[in-house]
Amino acid sequence: MQVAKIFRKESAFGKYMAYLCEIDSTNNYIKSRNSFLPHGFCAVAQSQLSGRGRQGKSFYSPKGKGLYASVLLKEESVVNDGLLTAKISLAVCRAIDRLTGTNNTNGVKIKWVNDIYFGSKKLCGILCERAKGKDGKDFVVVGIGINLEFDATCAPRDILNTATSLFDVTKNRYDMETLLKILLEEISDILYFDAKKTIELYRKRSCIIGHEINVIRNNKNIRAAALDILPKGELLVRYEDGTCEKLSSGEISIRLSK
Ligand code: BTN
Repeated sequence: MQVAKIFRKESAFGKYMAYLCEIDSTNNYIKSRNSFLPHGFCAVAQSQLSGRGRQGKSFYSPKGKGLYASVLLKEESVVNDGLLTAKISLAVCRAIDRLTGTNNTNGVKIKWVNDIYFGSKKLCGILCERAKGKDGKDFVVVGIGINLEFDATCAPRDILNTATSLFDVTKNRYDMETLLKILLEEISDILYFDAKKTIELYRKRSCIIGHEINVIRNNKNIRAAALDILPKGELLVRYEDGTCEKLSSGEISIRLSK
């Protein structure tokens, strides 16, 4: 592992950054240093040896082919915001729009609660991890992995047909640092949006509202219709027997129906 260079920047978020060449996981990097790093600290790596995804999955992070970044959140109002993951998803979509010219209607969408899709393929994953610091206060590490290019020759088989990249989508190559700068600007804005505005924007970005999905609970697939995203960010679904349920992100995962 290369020793990080710590730079001071003037923007509100990512004012303090660590640029890493290679690391196990940028989330791990921040978590293990949480006690002395400030709110808004960002770690970014060229590659991750053990990039982590949700539900214990790994996140493929080859050198120079993606943006692999984590941000530390310590401010109480932000850490306790029930819409935090929704806000981060929105920030990612808006940053990609600004960088590439995609927009709400022609592309970058959110699969509840925080996978970013283009069409039927995943472009970005987000892993928010909450923990308690030595001072007894909760903090959150937000990890974001955006595929800039997808090299199918080396990628794990399980994501070959399900992942995409900004290059696949736009046929252009983008610089990781430019994307990160825009992303941090969006995060610093959106984290302070009120709930009403957040949900309005989130609904417009949803690729599942009005679609058939599979709700996966205890390894069982249950067919449902995704009806709406509710004011607190829950997903409202209707099952085949006509009953409806509000789903919270911790309990289940969903799959888009083909
Ligand atoms: C998922 O798709 O399940 C979430 C993937 C999150 C990947 C990012 S890359 C930067 C940060 N470091 C990690 O180890 N994971 C996150």
